[in-house]
Amino acid sequence: MYKYNHFIPLFMYGVKNKDIIPEQWYNITPDLPEPLSPPRDHDPERSSIDLLNRILPLEVLKQEFTSRRYEKIPEEILRQYEQAGRPTPLIRARNLETLLNFTGKIFYKYEGATVTGSHKINAAIPQAYYAAQEGVMEVATETGAGQWGTATALSASLNGIKSKIFMVNVSFRQKPLRKRIIEIYGGNVVASPSTLTDYGRQILKKEPEHPGTLGIAISEAVQYTLDNNIRYLMGSVENSVITYQSIIGLEAQKQLEIEGEEPDVLIGCVGGGSNFSGFVFPFMKTDVEMIASAASEVPKFSKGKYRYDLIDTAGILPQLKMISLGADYVPPPIYSGGLRYHGAAPALSMLVNSGRIGTDEVTEEKSMEAMQIFARTQGIVPAPESAHAIATAIDYCRNNENQGKTVVLNVSGHGLLDLSIFGD
Ligand SMILES: Cc1ncc(COP(=O)(O)O)c(C=O)c1O
Repeated sequence: MYKYNHFIPLFMYGVKNKDIIPEQWYNITPDLPEPLSPPRDHDPERSSIDLLNRILPLEVLKQEFTSRRYEKIPEEILRQYEQAGRPTPLIRARNLETLLNFTGKIFYKYEGATVTGSHKINAAIPQAYYAAQEGVMEVATETGAGQWGTATALSASLNGIKSKIFMVNVSFRQKPLRKRIIEIYGGNVVASPSTLTDYGRQILKKEPEHPGTLGIAISEAVQYTLDNNIRYLMGSVENSVITYQSIIGLEAQKQLEIEGEEPDVLIGCVGGGSNFSGFVFPFMKTDVEMIASAASEVPKFSKGKYRYDLIDTAGILPQLKMISLGADYVPPPIYSGGLRYHGAAPALSMLVNSGRIGTDEVTEEKSMEAMQIFARTQGIVPAPESAHAIATAIDYCRNNENQGKTVVLNVSGHGLLDLSIFGD
């Protein structure tokens, strides 16, 4: 007998938010099969690693390089997490199971239920909080799909500071409502490449209509941070971001425990790797299967190389050992702005390279079909990025060998602000 009806909030059964929201984040570094290769300088003239002291909030920098397994979440961050909609629900996708004639169970962790509509708020709140604690008055960042920019704008406002958001030009044009919501939350958003930095001006001089890339937008946000002596917030890829995102997997573990369920497979989508890694890393000591779903148009898993590469196109930040298509790779303008990044987080790359984590690549067309199936069965319009994970899960459940299994899927965000890209 199924224990809870997920359309009725768990608190009505006496489960409190604090029974599900963890008190500590989980950092996978000490549990990796081999030590993580450290970031590397690539310019003999200057150390980009030393520069991090002027770029990141100090507490974030400390957490970036720690090998401590658990990090206590400060009370104020827990309060802001609750205000932002945590814990997010774990919902059984019964109609999808029926549609697919699947004899197992499909659950999804729904990060779209946060107030900004995606998992990105999980990493934005702590970074804005630590920056404000350290007396910083403004933060800067990049955004691809717009979800990270939205989360940064709100997190900065919640912590009483300003934010400057460099939004990849093609998304800036495709998604005017994103720009609007970032502004409503108090952020200041510009299209990247922009005229605000030397690097942006150089690119615009050569190509005034440049579509922009996440690599370029990161370079601009970091340059702007250094020029204005403010601090930069990281949206993905870095260890500390994945540690903050571990709240997804830690909550899911408690929710599955309440249900008396054990997953056979965990599925999520990968841009830089933060929602997927945050979701699956807390389960790493179990033998659960894990599948990372990326975009076929940005084929980092099938065509990328595991090597040191630049995080940002201008090379202001250090290099990381990761699976990468090359920092100068210009991806096609697919809807899923958040999946266009050229690389994947180092810890995730290591686990993909070792075979512990499986991968899938999904075309835009297939992700749009999955988006519609999910909307019509579950009532939720997923973000185009999340639709890739849904497509991978649908394929998994259609495979006869997987009948009877328990599938847990991370739906990283909703697509309600992306509707204009779906066409007539
Ligand atoms: C809704 C959503 N899902 C997934 C991603 C991919 O990023 P990451 O791999 O860091 O979770 C993004 C990035 O913008 C996003 O907005």
